[in-house]
Amino acid sequence: MAYFEWADDLEIDQGPIDDDHRKLVEQVNELHSATSQGRGQEIVGRLLEDLERDTVEHVRREEAFLASVGYPETAEHHEGHERFLGDLRRLRQRFDEGSVTVAAQLSQLLRDWLSLHIRRYDRSVRDFLQAQRRAGRGR
Ligand SMILES: [Fe+2]
Ligand SMILES: [Fe+2]
Repeated sequence: MAYFEWADDLEIDQGPIDDDHRKLVEQVNELHSATSQGRGQEIVGRLLEDLERDTVEHVRREEAFLASVGYPETAEHHEGHERFLGDLRRLRQRFDEGSVTVAAQLSQLLRDWLSLHIRRYDRSVRDFLQAQRRAGRGR
């Protein structure tokens, strides 16, 4: 069984944003199974590179989407994205410097990103869209 299961409450747009988040869940699971087999250190360098590249693309896509739907809290949301990217870059730097605890730190970072950012900030976008749809129907 996967370490982290995709759940309906993670759905935001039933489209590209969800696809990105699903991929992230796969990466979390990949890290977890590698770590539990003692292979965390083997894959963490490559995974950090992938995560950095995917996250840069994802936040660009997500922020363009937020702007297009007129979502109001973009500055705070944007800060969360920048912080996460900064954390990923710092971990890659530590990895490049030879740190052997990066896999565990990355695992913690991703867990927080899923449960604190995606489940809270990204989720509030879905609530916003639903409220808009309801308001639209009421007109
Ligand atoms: Fe997101
Ligand atoms: Fe986000």
